[in-house]
Amino acid sequence: MCGIIGYVGSKDSVNIIIRGLSALEYRGYDSAGLAVLDNNEFKILKKAGKVAELEKMLESTSLSGSIGMGHTRWATHGGVTDINAHPHCGGDNVVLIHNGIIENWMEIKEELSGDYAFISETDTETAACLIDKTYKDCIEKGENNPTLEAIKAAVQKIRGAFAFVVMFRDYPDRFYCIRKSSPLVVGCRHESAKEAAGKFEAFCASDAMALLHYTADVVYMNEGEIAELSVNGIKFWDFSGVEHERETIHIDWNYGMVEKGNYPHFMLKEINEQGTVLRQTIDKRVIDNQIDLSSDLKWDLEQVKSWRKLHIVACGTSYYASLVAERLAEQFTDLEIRVDIASEYRYRNIRCGADTLAVFVSQSGETADTLAAERLAKSKGAHCLAVTNVKGSSLAREVNSILELKAGPEIGVAATKTFMGQLAAFSLLMMWIGKLRGTLCKSDETRICAELTRLPYKVESILSRQDELRLLAEKYAETTSRYGIVYERSKGFLFIGRGNEFAIALEGALKLKEIAYVHAEAYAAGEMKHGPIALLDSGTPVITLAPADSLLEKTMSNIEEARARKSPIISVTSEGNNAVKSISEDCFFISRTEEELYPMLTVVPLQLFAYFFAFIKGCDIDKPRNLAKSVTVE
Ligand code: F6R
Repeated sequence: MCGIIGYVGSKDSVNIIIRGLSALEYRGYDSAGLAVLDNNEFKILKKAGKVAELEKMLESTSLSGSIGMGHTRWATHGGVTDINAHPHCGGDNVVLIHNGIIENWMEIKEELSGDYAFISETDTETAACLIDKTYKDCIEKGENNPTLEAIKAAVQKIRGAFAFVVMFRDYPDRFYCIRKSSPLVVGCRHESAKEAAGKFEAFCASDAMALLHYTADVVYMNEGEIAELSVNGIKFWDFSGVEHERETIHIDWNYGMVEKGNYPHFMLKEINEQGTVLRQTIDKRVIDNQIDLSSDLKWDLEQVKSWRKLHIVACGTSYYASLVAERLAEQFTDLEIRVDIASEYRYRNIRCGADTLAVFVSQSGETADTLAAERLAKSKGAHCLAVTNVKGSSLAREVNSILELKAGPEIGVAATKTFMGQLAAFSLLMMWIGKLRGTLCKSDETRICAELTRLPYKVESILSRQDELRLLAEKYAETTSRYGIVYERSKGFLFIGRGNEFAIALEGALKLKEIAYVHAEAYAAGEMKHGPIALLDSGTPVITLAPADSLLEKTMSNIEEARARKSPIISVTSEGNNAVKSISEDCFFISRTEEELYPMLTVVPLQLFAYFFAFIKGCDIDKPRNLAKSVTVE
């Protein structure tokens, strides 16, 4: 949460910062701000609202400077106001931006209140003032490297999670990045010999995506690390001041991948990329209808055979993918399985150890709860596997092994193509574990692998019928106006499904809630009569996931129950299933596939339904209110 960008070099930093902030806006969009250091003077511009507001302000100023930083905020401490927007000043010497939460900010504020007049309600301002104070102390003591010493002293006092970027007024050629628990990546580019031989441009950001326009050579900062970025290069220290070297890594994403192209929203672009995601996920992993993950997972066969338990842990959409994974694991492996929400798992008395494969699922690899859950499982001796889309993420760097999603960068706040990637990766993973442990039947392997290669075309066939889903969304998003009050046709939606389709019901309801702000609840279809059926009437449509699987007849009985309460029924079912069509007010057909793989088809119409519903309501689809894509605080 919160986006951070920083630049030092020979160019004007303002355009670089604005471009970076636009790329990072998915991380928070309550306010935006920037600071440059020009002639030993800090110039700061900040504003509540989106980056576009900041850009408007810039039009009437002449801000420039070859060193600067920018921030997009997802508010934690202090309301969404201009004053609480970052950057924050600490005395005369320091300007700082922050991602994270300072837990002992009140204590620090109290300690400094005699010397500093705090103007914001944020925890961040206390860190800026603290660094100013430690800096002044270091100057007084005549320290050789007062900036580094000041940071070292300050970080010892701060509890919580932070990624800071700090500029000192007296040092216009450098800034510092500090990381504890919140992600930060630094990158560099050698300017062309023509422009300035031997000189360096250095960048930092909370996500490497924001740097792709300038460089793909980056260093993901480690826990407890300080970096100094200057025109002479990048230096690294740990929090005790020991200097060390870091190697840059090259990321294989490019700038074109983080552009919207001709799509009105990233979400729509990403939904439309799902056929490609499936192809990329199975590429070189399914060969001649056989599964082979040996190049991804360098597992020792003895170790795989020693596992007794499988834990799968995640948040949000990644958790719903994990629910599908649970059933795949039940079918293809003999492991004892538990699936948990990371924020719960981390605080339970979990039984796990050397006999456990613990899988942590996170598209970003930065979700604070998922990371904490992984650290817990690791401390208990489990083999930790990350299923993630970001190879350099914190999660990916901490686990024992990684299964990469290959979905390409996802910018829309609502996860879509990475969910598809997770479903596909899980079908491969569970078969692979079963194959290594000798529990996967050959016929299942051939059947699933053959169908996986056909699935991208089936997804694309749904994508080619987007107009049907737009019309459906138009019908249910309809409003009427009486006495000046606008009534929505649908009071709320109930999503129902059984087995894997229950997980898809949960995902469909989440999409509608988060981007269209419509109340939607998902229930296991058989559980509906234990309470939620009381909600049903002609104003509460029921979206049913009813593909031709082994539970279809049971699901159809549940559809009848909802119909008897006059709820309009919208069904997603497999082609030719006219029985479902005949009991539904609206019906969307998908191709037939193997039972285990239906989720990869049934989810697509739900994503598009939510997208068009939100579009019709005029919602800000890529940046839904109150949300941020990467949840890096607890
Ligand atoms: C919903 C959504 C969130 C994320 C959740 C976990 O559309 O995107 O629910 O799935 O915040 O994020 P990751 O997968 O990055 O750990």
